[in-house]
Amino acid sequence: MSYEIKITPIEKTKIDSIDVNNIIMGFSFSDHMFICDYENGAWHNPRIEPLALIPTHPAAMALHYGQAIFEGMKVTTGKNGTPLLFRPDQNAKRLNFSADRMGMPSFPQDLFIEGLKKLVALDKAWIPSKEGSALYLRPFMYADEPFIGMRAAKSYKFIVMASPSGPIYSHKIKLFAEKKYVRAVNGGTGEAKAAGNYAAAVLPTENAKAKGYHQVLWLDAQDFEYIQEVGTMNIFFKINGKFITPDLSGSILAGITRMCVIDLLRDKGFEVTERPIKLSEIKEASANGTLEEAFGTGTAVGIAMIEEIGNEDFTLNLPESNPVSNMINNTLNAIKVQKEVDKFGWIVEAK
Ligand code: COI
Repeated sequence: MSYEIKITPIEKTKIDSIDVNNIIMGFSFSDHMFICDYENGAWHNPRIEPLALIPTHPAAMALHYGQAIFEGMKVTTGKNGTPLLFRPDQNAKRLNFSADRMGMPSFPQDLFIEGLKKLVALDKAWIPSKEGSALYLRPFMYADEPFIGMRAAKSYKFIVMASPSGPIYSHKIKLFAEKKYVRAVNGGTGEAKAAGNYAAAVLPTENAKAKGYHQVLWLDAQDFEYIQEVGTMNIFFKINGKFITPDLSGSILAGITRMCVIDLLRDKGFEVTERPIKLSEIKEASANGTLEEAFGTGTAVGIAMIEEIGNEDFTLNLPESNPVSNMINNTLNAIKVQKEVDKFGWIVEAK
């Protein structure tokens, strides 16, 4: 289906106020946003406008009952200067999976992709060219109906904003194995990219940072035995030449970078198994010298090499070199800028 997306361009771009190639993720925003309203059971008025404040009623239901979900994706520039989206269909699908879990309406996948393409084409000048940097897109949906009471809202906004971003980590990271708080339980909202999952992670993350770690390593809510995921990433281990990652057991976010890394590793001839992983198995592999590499995967972070996992009771130091993880990271980054052939068909040109 073809949609009419009304475009109101900004009068004067703000691009001159920043250097998109030297920027910390999350602080700067491009000129425009894509926005669409849900009322009376349907999405209306898809439009691209100058990024601006949005009037919010104090009773907007997202503020009280947390119907808010989001996505993250990165835009790069291809060989001939065309902006490139990376697997936007997967983000659209996951957004709608999250929407369903949170009792929110789904957003048409073709409008999602069309809106992203138009936004990115308009804000093309905001895409960093520096290796490791990208234009981060943040699609999100929230309940904006003013109402006090517990039920699904009747009106929502879907918005996509764009933020030029440099790499989050230029160093290896340390993970705090959390044994008091949990991120998710089966049957909860852990599989959804729901704002509330991140809210619940704020305190444990701040506590971990105060102890010198970068992110939390979440364990299962029942026994604190099985590894689930990391603060903003999924996790992989290489033991004895083979890769393992926790299976999507119902409380783990289905990361798109996770999916790509599994495909790339298998394509390069490595065995990858998705299965429950006990923390004790990783400790044992570390002790007997078979734990070779460990890394986290996420859209914002990319592939982050792990140097340490620990808490008050133990410390595991990972080997210094990460040959396979680095190779996969380089391959993924090269595909994203069309320096390597996109044989999986992950790239979508925004034109
Ligand atoms: C992403 O990796 O895109 C995320 O959504 C994590 C975010 C909390 C920065």
